[in-house]
Amino acid sequence: MYFGWFSLVDAPSATGHLDPDIPWPVLVSIGTNPTFDNAERTVEAHLFDFDDDLYGRRAVINLERQLRPQRRFDSIEALTAHIETIARDGRQLLESLGWTAPGR
Ligand SMILES: Cc1cc2nc3c(=O)[nH]c(=O)nc-3n(C[C@H](O)[C@H](O)[C@H](O)COP(=O)(O)O)c2cc1C
Repeated sequence: MYFGWFSLVDAPSATGHLDPDIPWPVLVSIGTNPTFDNAERTVEAHLFDFDDDLYGRRAVINLERQLRPQRRFDSIEALTAHIETIARDGRQLLESLGWTAPGR
């Protein structure tokens, strides 16, 4: 799992945020998904506190740092809760450093 910044590189979004010049914080999974015995290497992005539909959009992600290697979780619920906790804590940390979500 990596922390990075996600920017759309196609047309600006209808909702006015995620424009190319406004990076959005993101957690990125790169690797196999051992929780699911999935040997295929995938790249998945989980944007902090974000629920618009971005399917089919083009984006660039600048990876800042690796937070941990991929690992096996006991259940998908445990994995989902883990990702949500890190995203929430990460967002609070960014806000404590002065970051505010554009367009919110
Ligand atoms: C930020 C992030 C971190 C992840 N870390 C792991 C991991 O450590 N181990 C793992 O098995 N899967 C990990 N995954 C991948 C999940 O297994 C994956 O999202 C899940 O299989 C759901 O896939 P689906 O959207 O194709 O259903 C991670 C996903 C995200 C977004």
